[in-house]
Amino acid sequence: MKIAVLASGRGSNFEALYSSDLGPGEVSLLVSDRRDAPVLQRAEKLGIEALFLDPGPKRTVFSPEAEDAWVEAISSRGIQLICLAGLMRMMRAGILQAYRGRILNIHPSLLPAFPGLHAQAQALSHGVKVTGCTVHYVDAGMDSGPIVMQSAVPVLEGDTAETLSDRILEKEHSIYPEAVRLHCGGLLKIEGRNVRILGADGAGSRG
Ligand code: GRF
Repeated sequence: MKIAVLASGRGSNFEALYSSDLGPGEVSLLVSDRRDAPVLQRAEKLGIEALFLDPGPKRTVFSPEAEDAWVEAISSRGIQLICLAGLMRMMRAGILQAYRGRILNIHPSLLPAFPGLHAQAQALSHGVKVTGCTVHYVDAGMDSGPIVMQSAVPVLEGDTAETLSDRILEKEHSIYPEAVRLHCGGLLKIEGRNVRILGADGAGSRG
């Protein structure tokens, strides 16, 4: 199963996905909405097709024309699963319909707490003792789709947004490939807000 990773930044999750066992899944395309995103070079070094595609004039959403071009570029390459990995842009109806139930995202908090930007800083300023990361299917809302898997990370005395982000990132690199492997193996079933892991008794949570 061919996978496209969509990213705007440095690409550590892209590389974690690329270098993990994804079962029948295989990362075969990287698309960025930023011409200067370091993830583009990472992909080229790894020998993965890397594309910059114009997202349109707005900063946080695709223009409808750009979205059509993204869907065309992705679907024409036989991509069956889209993984967002630090894409700083909301999906619109076109791409959500074309890839319904086939777009995953990783977010650095235990959703539904702290959606949106700077989730680690939000957690610190709220004073929570535990935060973490979440893999979820993407819907039209902000980090609001059905949750596949979560991993908890304690907030330590003296943590800064940076130290906390580093510890959360380690967990991201472990649960994101695991969730993708389950999806590619046909082992995830979306039932309303719930995602069932077929053949597992657990509730999709790892410590
Ligand atoms: C990660 O923290 C991820 O959770 C969030 O964006 C960041 C991307 O980091 N969605 P990287 O580019 O994968 O290193």
